[in-house]
Parts: sequence; C-alpha cells; structure tokens
Amino acid sequence: MQLEALPTVQGDYNLKNYEETYKTFSWKDVEKNFSWSETGRVNMAYEAIDRHAESFRKNKVALMYLSDTRNEKYTFYEMKKLTNKAANVLKEKAGVQKGDRVFIFMPRSPELYFATLGAIKLGAIVGPLFEAFMEGAVKDRLEDSKAKVLVTTPDLVGRVPVDQLPALETIFVVGENVGEEGKLLDFLKYFKEASDKLDIEWVGRNDGLILHYTSGSTGKPKGVLHVHNAMIQHYQTGKWVLDLKEDDIYWCTADPGWVTGTSYGIFAPWLNGATNVVVGGRFSPAAWYKTIEQFGVTVWYSAPTSFRMLMGAGNEIVRQYDLSTLRHILSVGEPLNPEVIRWGNEVFGLRIHDTWWMTETGAQLICNYPCMDIKPGSMGKPFPGIKVAIVDDQGNELPPNRMGNLAIKKGWPSMMAAIWNNPQKYESYFFPNGWYVSGDSAYMDEDGYFWFQGRVDDVIMTSGERVGPFEVESKLIEHPAVAEAGVIGKPDPVRGEIIKAFIALRGGYEPSNELKEEIRQFVKKGLAAHAAPREIEFCEKLPKTRSGKIMRRVLKAWELNLPAGDLSTMED
Ligand code: WT7
Repeated sequence: MQLEALPTVQGDYNLKNYEETYKTFSWKDVEKNFSWSETGRVNMAYEAIDRHAESFRKNKVALMYLSDTRNEKYTFYEMKKLTNKAANVLKEKAGVQKGDRVFIFMPRSPELYFATLGAIKLGAIVGPLFEAFMEGAVKDRLEDSKAKVLVTTPDLVGRVPVDQLPALETIFVVGENVGEEGKLLDFLKYFKEASDKLDIEWVGRNDGLILHYTSGSTGKPKGVLHVHNAMIQHYQTGKWVLDLKEDDIYWCTADPGWVTGTSYGIFAPWLNGATNVVVGGRFSPAAWYKTIEQFGVTVWYSAPTSFRMLMGAGNEIVRQYDLSTLRHILSVGEPLNPEVIRWGNEVFGLRIHDTWWMTETGAQLICNYPCMDIKPGSMGKPFPGIKVAIVDDQGNELPPNRMGNLAIKKGWPSMMAAIWNNPQKYESYFFPNGWYVSGDSAYMDEDGYFWFQGRVDDVIMTSGERVGPFEVESKLIEHPAVAEAGVIGKPDPVRGEIIKAFIALRGGYEPSNELKEEIRQFVKKGLAAHAAPREIEFCEKLPKTRSGKIMRRVLKAWELNLPAGDLSTMED
C-alpha cells in the first residue's frame, strides 16, 4: 500500500529550505562552530561538555538520568568536573594514555557517561560493549582491540575472561563494596577522592575516538574506528535532523553499546548543548510513555521495532499519558513501515522522521527533515554535503527508479577511519572510483527520495540490531550436538527479522524440542540474548557450495517458498 505523502507542518525549524541548502552547503562552514577553529586544540569531550560549562550553559542541565533506583540531574558544569574526575582515575590508577583502548561494559548509568567522556578527555579510544554480551562476545572484542582497561560492574565482571586477555591490565568495577584483587580495582573509591581538575589531552582531528564492533556476513565482528573529526557531522545533523534548540529535552532510546547510543546519545546532543535524557532498564510501553511525560521530552529518537511494539500495545495506553511536549520524532535502524508512520501521526499528531545510516558511516546520511514532505516508506534525501547514488556492481551510477547498491561518495566528516587491525577489510568497502558501498540495495525516485529494498549480503537486522550469521553459526557449531549450521533472517512483523537456524546434528543426537531449547540457551549464554535463534529447524544436510560455503540464500528461499535461483555452484 502506498500512503500519501505527509506534507511539512509549518514551523521554525533550524533547516529552513532543504533544496537550497543542499546546493550551497559546505562542511568548511561548520568548523567555525568549534573552539578548535580558533585555538587549534581538538577534543570531542571538550566541545561536548567543557565548552558549555564555560559558557551561558554552565548551569543548564546536561544529563537527566532515571532508573529503578536512581533519579539524578547533572549540569554541564557538574559534568565537566565529574568527567575530569573519571579521567584522573583512569590516568592515575591505570596509566591510560592517548591511543589506549578503554572499554566500557556496563548498563546505562551516569558513571558510564563520566567514564566514556573521561577516557576521551585523555585521548583514549573508547570501546563500548552492550551489557547483554556474554563471555565469547566480550573476549573477541577485547582481544582484537588489545584493550588495556575495562570499566564494568559487579554483575558483568564475571563475563570477562581475564586470564585469556594478556593486554588487559586493569578492570575497574563500578559498584558498592568492590573487593580489589589482581587486576580488579574499585572505581568509585578512587572516583570520590579524585581531583576534578584536568589538563585535557589535545588530539588531532583524525585521531581515534571510538571503536564500535559490528557484524558482517563473514568473519568475526570487526572494529569500526571513528575519529574526533566526526564531531563536525554529529553537530550539524543534531542541528538539522534532530532540529535541536536551546529548550529541547532530548531522548535517544539507544544504548551506547550501539553507534546510535554514542553518536546520537552522547555526541550530537551535547555538541549542541542540549539536555539529554538517559533511562536505564527494560522496554515497556508504560515506562516509555511515562518517561516522555515525566521529563517533558520534546525530541525523541528511537527505532522501528520499538514503535511497532508501542503500536502493538494499543492506543488506549497512549491516552493515559500527557505527551503534549513532544514536537519531533525520529527513527533509525531498519525500514520504517508506512503503517507505523500512519499510526504515529494518529496517536502523537506528529510525523515520524526516518533516518538512514550505519555504524561505518558514523552519522546520519539520508534523512527526512522537518521542513520536507515525507513519503512514507522512504528514507528521505541525502544530508547537505553528502553525495548519494545508486550504482551497479562496477560502480556506475544508475538512473532514477533502478534498483542497485546504495553508495556514498567517500570523504564525509564522520566516515569510519579504519577497520581495526584489518586494512584489507576497510578497502573492501570502496569501489576504485571512490564510492563507499553500504551493503544495502535501494533505488532513488524521480524526486530524489531514496527507498530501501534490502541487504545485499546475509546480515540480519533483528529488532534494529545487526547480527552476523557467521558469528551465530560459529557459536552453534561449538555445541556438541551440532555438526553444521546455517543462519538466516526470517521476516517478522514486529522485529523486522528474527534469527532462524538450520542445524544438521552429529551422529548419535536425535532432534527434540529440549535440544532446540538447549542450543538456544547455549548461544544466549555464549554470545548474547539477541543473537540466539528464535527458531531452529533440524535438517539432514545443509545446502553448500562445492567449496563448502553454506548457501544461506538457498535456506532463505526454502524458508520463504521462493525460487532458489542459480544453483550451479551447489554441491550435489
Ligand atoms: C544497517 C546498518 C546507524 C544505526 C542503526 C543501525 C539498516 C539503518 C535504516 C533505515 C532501512 C536501515 C541498513 C544498514 N538500516 N537505518 N532508515 N531504513 N534500513 O546501524 O547496526 O550499523 O546497521 O541498518 O541495512 O545497512 P548498523
């Protein structure tokens, strides 16, 4: 079903005229918004926190935090001092220096933000880990990055295989009554005593800032490195896409373990001096609506899977809360269904603005802007300064309405700077003629709107989280009953896709529901809950190429009752 376009609602938006701005925009002009354009001294944390603490925003609330047990507010001035303290702990107790990898493995709490920004103030590279990661996932990431320091909590520290990580020198545990032994140190003990004064480590614009591990269709997760220069795009997209203004109360629902939770949960809002709401705990429709009411949220950035769950909870519950402060809603992570946009317009009286980007792109690239008509189902149009095209497999640009590879002209400010330890992988993202190839297929219509069609590769997007089938398959075959495994994404109305595993059992094992559950739990405990297959199907044998590669597209075709396509490379 094609929904009619939702026209712009007149308003005083930061971006007034998309088409005109796209023609005249230059990234160079954005640089004057940063103090380094005059001083030459660069540091993301300085621009996000300290600069405001030294300005009229000194006593403005920067962070509002809510969990089951805590309800706290911090001004920019307090954030400056608390992030300085965290930096001093990392420096004095663990010798953290510029370029060191400092990983953060904890649920959302104010300390997560102090430690992250504190590490950045030292010029360290921060590696955020999602709290649901289990031992295998934690080990892979700390090992590949040779992390020197980890900040975690008493609940999670048991998932860190300390003995197998020789490069890991210090583990700070954030909690009450932490016993110190071996590499473990009590973070809060030193944090309370630490000085709130610090000489920030100035860095180069292209020095490392953050390392996000993400999954592809082959191999282990890879470390996508972003640099301080990304702030240029975080700032400007915060201004024009999030449309942040001085009085906004902004809420990004993503965890900093994913790139949305750092680029748009830390950097973009604070570079713009906005008040940022952070909520811990689990998703529930009532808790989410309550958050909007209680904090008076005005700008809300979330994901299709969450909107679909809210939609599923019904309209009755929406009416129990005062959501009248909301003025701007955005979405990212997967295709935003036209039906969800229609529902959002009905219950919130607002258009939900889809945005497209990836871990590798560091910031939003294709968006729906408040000043622009929305075509429901479309990702929108390229951000000013960004050249997007649909290209064929040789990198030739295709005309409108032709499906092909969604590609971006190399060199935007927040583009990843490297894949950690893997220059070949980095190169493989680019065509020789300078296009970055996203792995998504899409087309552009005659009005310049882009429409997502699917992934070119086998990467699974489940509830907005990216899962590499290879990683799940590798874990599955560690289970004694599993001989071979092939993993695909199966379309699901709420989660976008769910993970389905096809498994061939080893001799001596019989298919059963108990075994399915045991295998599910095995992945859940070894990798992460969101990576565990929701569906398992046992089969005699998996379709493979003659070189032994599992043909996931054939599994997918079986699952969806579609033609399997070219089978010439398949073994008998
Ligand atoms: C993949 C990137 C950037 C944070 C979210 C996930 C899919 C992202 C959209 C959208 C359709 C989308 C793409 C992309 N995706 N946004 N608006 N419409 N698909 O980041 O984990 O790096 O995943 O998410 O397939 O390649 P990520």
